[in-house]
Amino acid sequence: MDNLMLKLDEAVTGIVGQWDLLTSLLFGSIISFFIYTVINYRDPDAHPMLLARQSQASLVRQEGESAVFRSHSSPHGMPLNSGLGVKDPGDSKWSRGRDGDLRDVWRGFVAGKVDREGKETGEKGKLLTILGSEKVVEHETGDINRQINLIGQHIKQNGGKNVAIYLPNSVEFIATLFSCSFYDLMPILVPYDQPIEKIISLLHESKADAVVAAVGSFPFDVISKSYPALEQLIWVVDEGSKHMDWNEVPKGIGGPVNVSTWQEIIQDAPLSSGNDLPAVDRTMELKNVRAFWPSGELVEYTQANVIAGIAGQLTSVPTTQRIVPSDLVLPVDSLSTMYTLVLTLSALYSNASVALNSVAGESPDLVLATQGLAPTIIIVTGESLAKVLSETAARMTSPVYGVVHWFQTRSLVEDGTMPNSTVFSRFFDSLRPKIGTAPGKLRNIYVSEQIGAHSTPLSAQNLSDLRIYTGARIIYALASSKVAGAVTQSGVFDYRIDEASGKYAHFGAPVTSVEVFLKDTKDYKTTDGSFFGEIHVRGPAVVGEEVSLGANGTIKEDYTLALL
Ligand SMILES: *[C@@H]1O[C@H](CO)[C@@H](O)[C@H](O)[C@H]1NC(C)=O
Ligand SMILES: *[C@@H]1O[C@H](CO)[C@@H](O)[C@H](O)[C@H]1NC(C)=O
Ligand SMILES: *[C@@H]1O[C@H](CO)[C@@H](O)[C@H](O)[C@H]1NC(C)=O
Ligand SMILES: *[C@@H]1O[C@H](CO)[C@@H](O)[C@H](O)[C@H]1NC(C)=O
Ligand SMILES: *[C@@H]1O[C@H](CO)[C@@H](O)[C@H](O)[C@H]1NC(C)=O
Repeated sequence: MDNLMLKLDEAVTGIVGQWDLLTSLLFGSIISFFIYTVINYRDPDAHPMLLARQSQASLVRQEGESAVFRSHSSPHGMPLNSGLGVKDPGDSKWSRGRDGDLRDVWRGFVAGKVDREGKETGEKGKLLTILGSEKVVEHETGDINRQINLIGQHIKQNGGKNVAIYLPNSVEFIATLFSCSFYDLMPILVPYDQPIEKIISLLHESKADAVVAAVGSFPFDVISKSYPALEQLIWVVDEGSKHMDWNEVPKGIGGPVNVSTWQEIIQDAPLSSGNDLPAVDRTMELKNVRAFWPSGELVEYTQANVIAGIAGQLTSVPTTQRIVPSDLVLPVDSLSTMYTLVLTLSALYSNASVALNSVAGESPDLVLATQGLAPTIIIVTGESLAKVLSETAARMTSPVYGVVHWFQTRSLVEDGTMPNSTVFSRFFDSLRPKIGTAPGKLRNIYVSEQIGAHSTPLSAQNLSDLRIYTGARIIYALASSKVAGAVTQSGVFDYRIDEASGKYAHFGAPVTSVEVFLKDTKDYKTTDGSFFGEIHVRGPAVVGEEVSLGANGTIKEDYTLALL
């Protein structure tokens, strides 16, 4: 017994004897790390089970095809999400509501600003434009209603049918689009800022007879000569050049072309006219929307396609991350891009505020495009994000930052939570990209890969780094010319990094208005455990019954779509 006590004593003395500074430090840091982990423990943003199975596979599959994959919110056996569920006064409380059309999107935005007595509350969504670099202008909904009416009436009276919109992101762009839907005209979204020959060929292809264009962007003399089908032109004089001499605006010189300016059409009309949107005529046949995909392909979307695209966006993110009236949404890509347009319309319909910047789409510089306001949600191109990423990474080279970055990546990947700012991370705040005027306000970034267009791939690692640099969550969508809105999009809470996924991160699950399946090709086939092939889609947001996206893909183990 004594012997045992003696041995124990010796052992303890031995340990204490060897207990030097290094051990204390090690011991101390292990204890602090443990305490830190316990104190900082947060539930992951999404339950791990939800990330492990992100979409739903059909039970049966056709020969030579994969199973059919759908959003969990749009299960098999139910119709895919096709619309907004608009209820008209007098509709039963239990009715599903109409799918709606573009007029309902605008009416929804206008209604969001009015209380039950019909008075403007001013609390909800606003439409803003950024002029120059800092000046922000708010537009009255009543004024925009008037523009929608007067411009629509003007084009109609002069015999216009197919209206090309050749404008930068602006309130006139939005107003012309809605003019077309209220006055039975076909809007044609023409990519802005193109060389003359290109504009002419786009007008030819789209069969436009009326054009709404920004002064200075549209060489009228040349175009009217080479495009005789042009019957009317409406110039939009931008705020910056309003002081210019009106006589300098080339109007009336068009011979057979009726040339007027937007501002004159509005100012010359009696104040009492054009204030009320036309009564809704449900029997009116709805005109399609023509748009050019960045690859140059002209696509005609039905209004049902566009509305289904919007419905897909409204319902494919978890409730806590949806666009709400307190959001300020800024499209940093051109509204003539269908994906950007659908998201912007979703924001309007959600009563959010929308800010428009004419530089959007022209330069990929995110810092420049967000000057002067503090958006909570932005819609950007992969090119813009890649630029932010490489510029920021070039500034954040200190080894100390490397440690902070490591911890924050760990928070995202291991804990599934967005990293909080800490004393250490705040030290580097001045090096982060300045997106908007209020750091920390930006919460979500929507970015898309457009099949067939110029591509800037973003890998899972790139997206993770961007989450850390910007402090915002990222929704990475796959977009196709054949689908209004997104085809599939990554989960807003999915922060995992799968190195194996290659140069593109995965693209998540189908949105609620689309279902996706893969058809076997020569090299890619679906087998019992794996899904490979050419990506095909069906659903109300799809142009046509069933189309191939012209790309090969795979459905990964977590049932997300990835490009091959
Ligand atoms: C982290 O941030 C979230 C929201 O930004 C906050 O609710 C939470 O309390 C923070 N957690 C810690 C440990 O600071
Ligand atoms: C927008 O506002 C209108 C009117 O207040 C409301 O009925 C509608 O539900 C709101 N839409 C959303 C998506 O919050
Ligand atoms: C253009 O149309 C307007 C409205 O119909 C008309 O008043 C005007 O005279 C027309 N201008 C030309 C040059 O034809
Ligand atoms: C994006 O990720 C890829 C692969 O993960 C990497 O090679 C590339 O350098 C990253 N781009 C930037 C700008 O960091
Ligand atoms: C898809 O893969 C097949 C070979 O299996 C190939 O012939 C085809 O070109 C690929 N499609 C695309 C769009 O790359």
